[in-house]
Amino acid sequence: MPEIAKRMRAPDLIEKKRRGEKIVVLTAYDFTMARILDAAGVDVLLVGDSLGNVILGFDTTLPVTLDAMVHHSAAVSRGAERALVVADMPFLTFQVNVEETVRNAGRLMQEGGAAAVKLEGCRAVIDAVRRLVEIGIPVMGHLGLLPQSVHQLGGFRQQATREEDAARLVEDALALEAAGAFSIVLESIPAAVAREVTAALRIPTIGIGAGPHCDGQVLVCYDMLGLSRGGAPPFVRKYAELGEAVASAAKEFAADVREGRFPASAPAKEKK
Ligand code: KIV
Repeated sequence: MPEIAKRMRAPDLIEKKRRGEKIVVLTAYDFTMARILDAAGVDVLLVGDSLGNVILGFDTTLPVTLDAMVHHSAAVSRGAERALVVADMPFLTFQVNVEETVRNAGRLMQEGGAAAVKLEGCRAVIDAVRRLVEIGIPVMGHLGLLPQSVHQLGGFRQQATREEDAARLVEDALALEAAGAFSIVLESIPAAVAREVTAALRIPTIGIGAGPHCDGQVLVCYDMLGLSRGGAPPFVRKYAELGEAVASAAKEFAADVREGRFPASAPAKEKK
């Protein structure tokens, strides 16, 4: 009998950490990419609000709306058979109050088909995290560099480099775990801090620019596939140069059209 791949659920990630298995996470924003990444065995498809950068062409994630996240989450959900689909809560959809947060997370699940949500930060949103978990919505936390706070942070730079900030980050991670989060993304922090957080938690950490000690790793798929504009961040490893491949295919098509090689002329009909 063919083996039917089991769908990943939030508790499966905690189990993976317990077993010492690394967790593989990539972002996805549309049906086709989700289908390919899912079939390749990626554990989690994160519909990141990085779609503001790589899909919509904004400089930050701040303009991303809940409607856009619902729309793209639904497309990714249709393409994912096995992977856990996690939808990012965009700016101002989880900071206003707990009630609004619940309604907004509900839309990402009901209309977007996501099986979990991710939100940035800790202290200002901990009540919302607790409530979401209480009503059955799995929450992935996000600490370190918080792209939605880029203006306050003064740029996309490494966080928790000072001892007091590192200690605060460890406390925040423990608070998110206590509030019921099932995993935490650690973005752009020193590897030693990520190691400390990872060792302190029962739930898995998913690193991006946070060194090798996290329980899993996430990359923006457009970065690792060589599709990002203006180059990817320095911690990214490129596994393909799809940008070059697409440009070269488009040039070949253009030349064939202009020089009459496409479409090929139809074979003349044989006479009876
Ligand atoms: O929006 C996103 O893609 C993310 C990842 C970079 C973790 O939050």
